[in-house]
Amino acid sequence: MTGNLIERLRHAVGSSGVISDPDEMAGYLTDWRNAYTGTAAAVVRPGSTEEVAAVVELCHQAGVEVVPQGGNTGLCGGAVPDSSGRQLVLSLTRMRRIRDLDVANQTITVEAGVILQSVQDAAAAAGQLFPLSLGAEGSCTIGGNLATNAGGTGVLRYGTMRDLTLGVEVVLPDGRIWNGLRGLRKDNTGYDLKQLFIGAEGTLGVITAAVLKLFPAVRSRATAWVALPGPQAAVDLIGILRAVAGDRLTGFEIMSRQSVDFVLRHVSGARDPFGERHLWYALVELSDSLPVAGLDEVIETALGEAVERGLVVDAVVASSAAQAAALWALREGISEAQNHEGPSLKHDVTVPVSRIPALVERADRALDEAVPGVRVVTYGHIGDGNLHYNLSKPVGGDDDEFRSRASDLARIIYDQTSALEGSISAEHGLGQSKREIIADYKDSYELELMRGIKQLFDPRGLMNPGKVLPG
Ligand code: FAD
Ligand code: MLT
Ligand code: ZN
Repeated sequence: MTGNLIERLRHAVGSSGVISDPDEMAGYLTDWRNAYTGTAAAVVRPGSTEEVAAVVELCHQAGVEVVPQGGNTGLCGGAVPDSSGRQLVLSLTRMRRIRDLDVANQTITVEAGVILQSVQDAAAAAGQLFPLSLGAEGSCTIGGNLATNAGGTGVLRYGTMRDLTLGVEVVLPDGRIWNGLRGLRKDNTGYDLKQLFIGAEGTLGVITAAVLKLFPAVRSRATAWVALPGPQAAVDLIGILRAVAGDRLTGFEIMSRQSVDFVLRHVSGARDPFGERHLWYALVELSDSLPVAGLDEVIETALGEAVERGLVVDAVVASSAAQAAALWALREGISEAQNHEGPSLKHDVTVPVSRIPALVERADRALDEAVPGVRVVTYGHIGDGNLHYNLSKPVGGDDDEFRSRASDLARIIYDQTSALEGSISAEHGLGQSKREIIADYKDSYELELMRGIKQLFDPRGLMNPGKVLPG
């Protein structure tokens, strides 16, 4: 990148918006897990849509590749530049304005760099709910949530980011601005273009703002921590809860004992709710917009039936908001806790809910045959069929040796997932980590159509190259 371009970028966004000092850039060049590190010519932080457009247009003219970045919490290397030192990281973190909150329309319009938790807080202050919720919500951004079509713990009831979005504003790879900020629930005027940018992981353009759906605030909640003999019992328990509680079932997370062990070992203040060890656990949440909905009774009725049928071994229903938060902390602490145990090989897979037990049985057996003693950290949003099939090395194992097995182990999990008609990425995306392997699991015609879309939006291939599409 020429000094001339850096000067122009400074002119476009102000000197403080362009970082080229290697030490100051470092935090933008490595991901949350320290799994990917790149280099960059500069990090640019525009403060408005017009400034984003000016930066992208300058890069387009100069043939410079752009890597959009939000909170940099992504788990597949999508926001990290390559090692050429020629790419530009475009950080949206200065675009933090909430542009509008329309209670009558049940919408909030926010810029891409707004932290997810700030959107939840703004909605709550207006007596509303923005339901996307995930472990990184204190640092991930709405732009990143859109670009990855984030999921998290509320999908069962409210859907993924795709379902929560009514409109987007995008800077296209040549610097043009597409204003698709419509707050309409019905709009049948042709192709739904916003859906192309959602989940595109920054490969089709830079999302600068969005209109998101709001829902009635939650006014009552019941939370339970449940011990189970295995995944089949979890699937059956979901059925009972659905029958008894209907749409009030808003969360159902599963965790293997290995996952909980890591949290108890590494997260300060974490405490096992039961005296005895169990093989599997579920965290169940019911919620309602009515202040007095009798949810404790509803959850107890469902759990009582499950105990009678031998599906539940033990259960505790939270008696206060603080106790419920402590149960959620056991679940949300798993990602962080696993980082203390050496490399964490992440596999974010999904199969139809009914096939989860078969997946766990087959994959666990094959993984242990491949690497005896491998620690399988299985947990996730089983209510919508999504398991995080994360792996840690055997006790006393060597980090590099374990990493060298990464692609064999991934294939074991992906082959079993694929045989059960699942997908190798439920919510984290492809980024750079699954960009090549996806070619073995996705229909070649589907990939050809995706390449055609990329060519239409970004014929010069300047927008987040090396991500999503196989090389
Ligand atoms: P980044 O990491 O900065 O970027 C992610 C991708 O989006 C990159 O490809 C980047 O180029 C692109 N991008 C970012 N901003 C824009 C933009 N404005 N325009 C275009 N492209 C853009 N994810 C889930 O889905 N569910 C979970 O439950 C979940 N739990 C997590 C728990 C922890 C502890 C952590 C660390 C991560 C978790 N994640 C989860 C993954 C991650 O938080 C999400 O993928 C999140 O949506 C990423 O947001 P971000 O702002 O950090 O994006
Ligand atoms: C989660 O649900 O905690 C994350 O999506 C999973 C992960 O960090 O692998
Ligand atoms: Zn998840």
